[in-house]
Amino acid sequence: MTSNANLLQRRLAAIPHGVRTAMPVFTARALNAEMWDVEGRRYIDFGAGIAVLNVGHCHPRVVAAARAQLEQYTHTGFQVTAYEPYIALAERLNALAPIDGPAKSILFSTGAEAVENAVKIARKATGRSAVIAFSGGFHGRTFMAMALTGKTAPYKRGFGPLPGEVYHLPFPVEHMGISVQHSLDALQMLFKADVAADEVAAIILEPVQGEGGFNVAPPALLQALREVCDRHGILLIADEIQTGFARTGRMFGIEHSGVKPDLITVAKSLAGGFPLSGVIGRAAVMDAVEPGGLGGTYAGSPVACAAALAVLDVIEDEGLIERAGRLGAVVVAKLHALAARADLRPIGHIRAAGSMIAFDLLVARDADKVDPAAASDVLQRGHALGLILLGCGAYGEAVRLLFPLTITDAVLDEGLGLLEQALAIPA
Ligand SMILES: Cc1ncc(COP(=O)(O)O)c(C=O)c1O
Repeated sequence: MTSNANLLQRRLAAIPHGVRTAMPVFTARALNAEMWDVEGRRYIDFGAGIAVLNVGHCHPRVVAAARAQLEQYTHTGFQVTAYEPYIALAERLNALAPIDGPAKSILFSTGAEAVENAVKIARKATGRSAVIAFSGGFHGRTFMAMALTGKTAPYKRGFGPLPGEVYHLPFPVEHMGISVQHSLDALQMLFKADVAADEVAAIILEPVQGEGGFNVAPPALLQALREVCDRHGILLIADEIQTGFARTGRMFGIEHSGVKPDLITVAKSLAGGFPLSGVIGRAAVMDAVEPGGLGGTYAGSPVACAAALAVLDVIEDEGLIERAGRLGAVVVAKLHALAARADLRPIGHIRAAGSMIAFDLLVARDADKVDPAAASDVLQRGHALGLILLGCGAYGEAVRLLFPLTITDAVLDEGLGLLEQALAIPA
C-alpha cells in the first residue's frame, strides 16, 4: 500500500522545499468537507484548498459540468477560436459584480495572473504607472503580484529586484493599534513625499486580507479610498481572490461596504477547484488595452469555465451566500465561548466576515500580545486529530477557518469539536 511516509520521502526527494505543504499526508479522495488520505484516514477540511472550495470538494454538479465539457473539447485557445462557456461566464460575472455601469470580464488561470493583468489594464487605462497596496496584503507570487504583496519573508526576500512604482500603506487593524485615520494620513504623506496622486494608476486591496490575517477592511477605509480615487483619477482594484463567491456572506466581499471598485480580481472559488481567474471591470477601463495586449494560452479554459458556471448555479440554488452568514455566526459564537474557557489556550482577536473567520493565539487571556508558536502548535495538533487547518497573519499568529459553505451541520460540529481539542493546554 502507498503510505504517507513513503510519499513524503518521494516528495522530499523529487520536489523542492520552496513549495511548502502544511500537512505530511497525501490525498486519496475528497468529498464536500471531508478528505481521506492514502492510508484511509479521514479528515475534516477547514481549509478548503486555501479558499478554493466554497462549494466543497467534487460537488456533483461541478463534476458533471466539467465532465460534459471534457467530452466536447478541452482546449482551443480562446485567442484562436472562442467558445460559449467563456462568454456565458463573462456575462454572469458582469451581471453579478458590484461595478458601476456596464462591465466586461476577461479570464486567466491563476490569481496572480489576474492581479498582473488588473495592473496592466489600470496602467493602460490611466496612462500612469504607480500602484499603491497595503502592508500585510497578499496578491500572489509572480513579479508584480509579489511586489504588491506586503510581506517580505517568505514571499519577497531574495527575489529582487522587484518591479518599481509600488508603494505600501499600513492596513488598519484595530488590535495592532492602526486606525483608518493612520492609513489615510499615510496616503496623504505618500502623495506628498513619494509619488504624486496624478501619477498613481491604481490602489489595490483585499476587502478582507487573506494571508495577512483575515483583517476586515473597515467600510470607512473603502469609502475614503473610493473618494480619493475619484478625486485623483485613480482606479480602485478590489482583490476578491480569497473573499469572492459567497465566502463573506456576500457574492463579493466589498459589497459589505457599498463601495464599487473599478476593477475586481477573482480566482480560487470561482471554478470550484479548476484553475481559473479573471478581471472584471468597468467596460471603458477594460477596453483600454489594444487587441492582443491581454490573454494567455490556457486563459479561460473551457473545462474551468463550465465548472465555474456550475459553481455559480450551486451558490444560488443552495443559498450559500445566506449560509455563509449563518454558519459564520454559529462559529464565531463558538469561538467566543472557547475564548472564555480557562482550560484552553488563550485565544482572542476573533474576526469574521461571514464564513471567513480567524482568531489569534495569545500569550495570556485578555492580553493583546500574540503567540505564533502556540498557533503553530494548534495547527499541528488539529492536523494530528484529523482537522485540516491553516494559519495566517503577519507573524503566523492566527488560525483561519475556511470550511466549504456546503459543509453539513454535523460535520461542522464535529470539526469544531476537534478544534476545541486542538486548543487544549498541553499537559
Ligand atoms: C487575495 C489573494 N490574491 C492573490 C492570490 C494569488 O492567487 P494564486 O495563488 O492563484 O496565484 C491569493 C492566493 O492566496 C490571494 O489570497
